[in-house]
Amino acid sequence: MLDLGYIVATVLFVFGLKDLSRVRTARRGNQLAALGMLVAVVVALAGAEKVSWTLLGAGLVLGAAVGAWLARRVEMTAMPEMVALFNGLGGFASLFVVLAQFWNDYLLSAVEVQGEAATQPVTLAENPNFFPVGAVTVFLTVLVGAVTFTGSLVAVGKLSGRIPGKPILLPVRHLLNAALGVAVLLLGWLLAFETSGWLTATLLIFVALLSAALGILLVIPIGGADMPVVISLLNSYSGIAASMAGFVLGQQLLIVCGALVGASGLILTRLMCKAMNRSLANVLIGGFGDTGGGGDQSEYENVRSASAEEAAMILESAGSVIIVPGYGMAVAQAQHVVKELADLLERHGAQVRFAIHPVAGRMPGHMNVLLAEADVDYDKLWELERINNDFASTDVALVIGANDVVNPAAIEDPESPIAGMPILNVHEAGTVLVVKRSLSPGYAGIKNPLFERDNCLMGFGDGKQFLTEVVNELKEAG
Ligand code: TAP
Repeated sequence: MLDLGYIVATVLFVFGLKDLSRVRTARRGNQLAALGMLVAVVVALAGAEKVSWTLLGAGLVLGAAVGAWLARRVEMTAMPEMVALFNGLGGFASLFVVLAQFWNDYLLSAVEVQGEAATQPVTLAENPNFFPVGAVTVFLTVLVGAVTFTGSLVAVGKLSGRIPGKPILLPVRHLLNAALGVAVLLLGWLLAFETSGWLTATLLIFVALLSAALGILLVIPIGGADMPVVISLLNSYSGIAASMAGFVLGQQLLIVCGALVGASGLILTRLMCKAMNRSLANVLIGGFGDTGGGGDQSEYENVRSASAEEAAMILESAGSVIIVPGYGMAVAQAQHVVKELADLLERHGAQVRFAIHPVAGRMPGHMNVLLAEADVDYDKLWELERINNDFASTDVALVIGANDVVNPAAIEDPESPIAGMPILNVHEAGTVLVVKRSLSPGYAGIKNPLFERDNCLMGFGDGKQFLTEVVNELKEAG
């Protein structure tokens, strides 16, 4: 019955993940996966011996309360931070579960055995509770769990601005990282020969401490703009740590779930790297976002602005409009008025579509979530590859709070820090109308030559406020 329960949970996870890959089915996917988790917890508890129900119940209530409180409180724009924190705690939990198992099955049993002087002291790998696979995975879980924990905390700090988002480049960082990596591996090698329980424990604690330092050093040189990729990678690491912990505990379900998280995190990482035209190695080596050099750093010239009234007139006469939302739409919470505007324009006979850049906003799917909240039809959301050739034949590209994802420097200036990143080709449209508050840069911190183009007009103002005025103008005009 227990095995059957585990299979049911696994199947629910797999189908949940499958559904999560499409906006239309994502909600159901989330529910399926949550149900899978419930089944998994119930089955795991049903199969457990010597369980302290009070302790488990208290943990469950406390964890659920804190989780629910955090999730309800968090701003949509701070969601990546929360995901990063969850990843970090996942790695931390795996680390502690494995250390607890080690404490129970190796340290305590070793003391008992030695007390009776019945057998020779054995290494971790020779201990019948672990044997080589368990011993290797104890080491790996501690390593990956600690790296994930501290790396995620640094990512949270960078995203929330508590740690500077700019890459922090220590002079001999590559050497330092390599030295730490070698030291951790050396400790792992020593673990294989150690027969004293307490020395083994000390070695493991050092593995955890050095890995924690490694986690910090690996993430601080990476710029804030690359944090989503790092978070996705750390998500994958937290899955790997959980999977390893599954080997230590002999828990197949944990192995499978961890592997699912590990693999899906890696796939997402790859997709994001592709969307930014960067290799994973390039992201991890760090330094991106340090805009001290490269790219156009001159002042803006020839910028033309348009009032809400002028913007309304331009939109009114357009036969085709592509709306490009970005991070500013999320900040302004302008999604509902954007939807209202789109409906109005359609009623005027215009063809209206939304172009979604894969890294617009601050998290994967950010724009999709906001537009879905405003009830924009999924069929109207077009991905970059599908719509990019259509800008040239479109009357108006309406850019709302997007900046980096429409920066033509990415394709025209090889010196630009974002050179090579695929962008939405809004500059090819008949008229580009950019709604944002000022000429301030976006996440990458660089100038956007789009704003100087002859076919570009700036609608300066808060996204929601400006578009509300445009909508009112259009309504007045009938
Ligand atoms: P950004 O380039 O960050 O630009 C957002 C623009 O929104 C800013 O220039 C800002 O200009 C404007 N804005 C802010 N508040 C506004 C408001 N209330 N009303 C109107 N406009 C407002 O955004 P993007 O084009 O969406 O590009 C995303 C960037 O973030 C990329 O560089 C990407 O690599 C990075 N990133 C992406 C993710 C993911 S996975 N989506 C996660 C983290 C980082 P003003 O200040 O002048 O208004």
